[in-house]
Amino acid sequence: MPDPSQWWCSAVVYQIYPRSFADSDGDGIGDLGGIAERLDYLQQLGVDVLWLSPIYPSPHDDNGYDISDYRDVDPAFGTLEQFDQLLRDVHARGMKLVMDVVVNHTSDEHPWFVESRSSRDNPKRDWYWWRDEPNNWTSEFSGPAWELDDKTGQYYLHLFTRKQPDLNWENPEVREAVYEMMRWLDRGVDGFRMDVINFISKPADLHDDATDTRGPIGRDAYICGPRIHEFLHEMHEQVFAGRDGLLTVGEMPGVTVEEAQLFTDPARGEVDMVFQFEHFNIDQRKNKWDWFPLHLPDLKHSLGRWQEGLAETGWNALYWNNHDTPRSVSHWGDDGEHRVAAAKLLGTVLHLHRGTPYVYQGEELGMTNVPFESIEDFRDIESLSHYAEATAAGQEPEEVLRGLRWMSRDNARTPVQWDASEHAGFTTGEPWIPVNANHTEINAEAGLADPDSVFHHYRKLIAFRHEEPAVAEGDFTMLLPDGERVYAFTRRHGDTELLVIANFSADAVTPDADREWAGAEVVIGDPGDSLALGPWEARVYRRSR
Ligand code: GLC
Repeated sequence: MPDPSQWWCSAVVYQIYPRSFADSDGDGIGDLGGIAERLDYLQQLGVDVLWLSPIYPSPHDDNGYDISDYRDVDPAFGTLEQFDQLLRDVHARGMKLVMDVVVNHTSDEHPWFVESRSSRDNPKRDWYWWRDEPNNWTSEFSGPAWELDDKTGQYYLHLFTRKQPDLNWENPEVREAVYEMMRWLDRGVDGFRMDVINFISKPADLHDDATDTRGPIGRDAYICGPRIHEFLHEMHEQVFAGRDGLLTVGEMPGVTVEEAQLFTDPARGEVDMVFQFEHFNIDQRKNKWDWFPLHLPDLKHSLGRWQEGLAETGWNALYWNNHDTPRSVSHWGDDGEHRVAAAKLLGTVLHLHRGTPYVYQGEELGMTNVPFESIEDFRDIESLSHYAEATAAGQEPEEVLRGLRWMSRDNARTPVQWDASEHAGFTTGEPWIPVNANHTEINAEAGLADPDSVFHHYRKLIAFRHEEPAVAEGDFTMLLPDGERVYAFTRRHGDTELLVIANFSADAVTPDADREWAGAEVVIGDPGDSLALGPWEARVYRRSR
């Protein structure tokens, strides 16, 4: 276990997707000026760290996760000077700022790739993966993972879109260039979220993937590939070692508990925590578009395993949603009659687990999925590619749309709803993606004004973590693992014990837990004189042993 005095054990991180957060100049795209204007709001919420999704120059094929210059700010978002000022403003408020680095791939417009593709004998040719014949891997975003480059007659590897060629980490020059860039980025920033960082080590022979696992073909070969721990340790030594106060979190699709233990063991010097996806995939069949209703014991089983697996060594990053997921209150809660209760419940359950919680912009308002009408309403490259591929293969457009409405990343990417006015106070111009019509009811202004709002509930959860050491440091015991409606667990630290009970259903229930708790102090949620819970109600009790 990390030293519990590590500052990030008791911190809460807030993710900003700049394009959709707040627009200060009326061009319909969120920007740094918009973030600066909302710092008071974030401070009021009480979060400790802001993580900015990429703000670097980019052709925006994948909304900035295709970087063409790591050393500047995209003019759509602002300038480097504005960024430096934002960093100072964030620090002045006692918060920290973490950047997103995307180094599994660059944009095809990055000068490194422009050089690499210019000729077979260019010195940067080997900075990317070029082959005469593709292997059988498929892209994470539909279709093959290889693109033929006419000029030099070879294929290059792209695990994401064809505009996101994969860097060849086997080449030491690539690694040094990446570390050098990250050192430059450390111009006062407090750490990094590292995009698909467990994809960077490919087997040097790029062999075909012979397995038939769910998801894109090739994953078995490149997820946590042969040199991944070596590369992350090297990065740690080259970039992070000796600097205090940083937070590093690796995004790691497909990572196992056992691997995560290694990645987050402080003694190994790799990363502080990882985003794992196991709990996120438990209601899916062959791919993310094909889901079934949540079976609560599966969720408990999964998260419980991760709590246990990282109890002694390592640390969990906790999240329900981010810029790649649907909205949690729609996905696993209730976005109709019980929206407010369900959003509060999800917050309570997540924030009381052991680990560092991440709040995705708008989650603290209980923002919901979007009733997209037609494919024209979508912007995300993943959704558009899936629609094109699935309909070409004969699937009914309406059926494909049903999957998109449920899972599309655009659900998370509609503008933050600041108020009930036109475009939700996000922009004075035309937003790059339509605002959810429910902003007239669900918005920050309304949340701030109502003491019973989801916003104020999140504020209390965050404050509670700061005040009560059992939240950050306590051990974790899952109760009622097979219960289909109640999620319950205890946390223990010294002589303090917390009980969390949550009703994931619209029916009233009484959890089968130790009745003595009924007399204990209720620290989160509405007190009741028994353990009975109303629809989507959650409660946290505290007692001394
Ligand atoms: C990560 C990002 C996602 C992006 C992909 C490729 O999964 O979170 O938004 O599309 O990597 O960079």
